Amino acid sequence: MKEKGFSQAVIFDLDGVIVSTDEFHFWAWKRLTEREGIYFDRWINEKLRGISRMQSLEIILEKATREYGVADKQQLAAEKNEYYIELINSQLNPSYILPGVMTLLPCLKRKRIGIAIGSSSRNALLILEKIGLDGYFDVVVDGHEIEKSKPDPEVFLLAAKRLGVPAENCLVVEDADSGVEAALSGGMSVLGVGSACHHPKATHTVPDLSKISVQELIDLIGSGKTV
Ligand code: BG6
Ligand code: MG
Repeated sequence: MKEKGFSQAVIFDLDGVIVSTDEFHFWAWKRLTEREGIYFDRWINEKLRGISRMQSLEIILEKATREYGVADKQQLAAEKNEYYIELINSQLNPSYILPGVMTLLPCLKRKRIGIAIGSSSRNALLILEKIGLDGYFDVVVDGHEIEKSKPDPEVFLLAAKRLGVPAENCLVVEDADSGVEAALSGGMSVLGVGSACHHPKATHTVPDLSKISVQELIDLIGSGKTV
């Protein structure tokens, strides 16, 4: 593999960090659970942040009143994804990119900081295409390439390896508690945003990426300190 030559990198989670897809996930699960007569609400939906589709389904099925076998579960997960993709294809566009993202990304590129996506989603490439950022990141690792979902650090360690940057020189940006845990257990500093903006273990937190400058972000790389 060609050496990318970065000495530092920022690995971004996708959903809830780069782009707002939360409502699409929520409405796709809602449609499925209503059809199946399973109780589902926004509080349960919050628990699905950052974790894989199948693990999300397992959490949802805790409220089910009947047993679902392996084949049933695969069917349900596939149907939820069809509903989700229907929404993504009809509605997702660059206006869903979250605040601050399009200021920070070009600055990081100019400063020769590697930028990657580390996402649990198996739809990451489709989403990047819909928001006009396909081909923009130096590395994209998605849910197709990992065996263990966050809070396991696999997705971030693979991204760091592909960037050619040691874990201690990477900063992760995450909105999920499971993602913050994953970054820390991979030996990376982590910026918590959105739903993780009060995470007590994050290296630093901000409500969204418009509230941090590129230099403050770079200062967090490998620091473990707060700005
Ligand atoms: C994560 C989301 O990015 O991807 C989770 O935060 C979602 O809510 C997971 O379950 C898997 O997504 P997908 O697109 O593969 O169903
Ligand atoms: Mg996320």
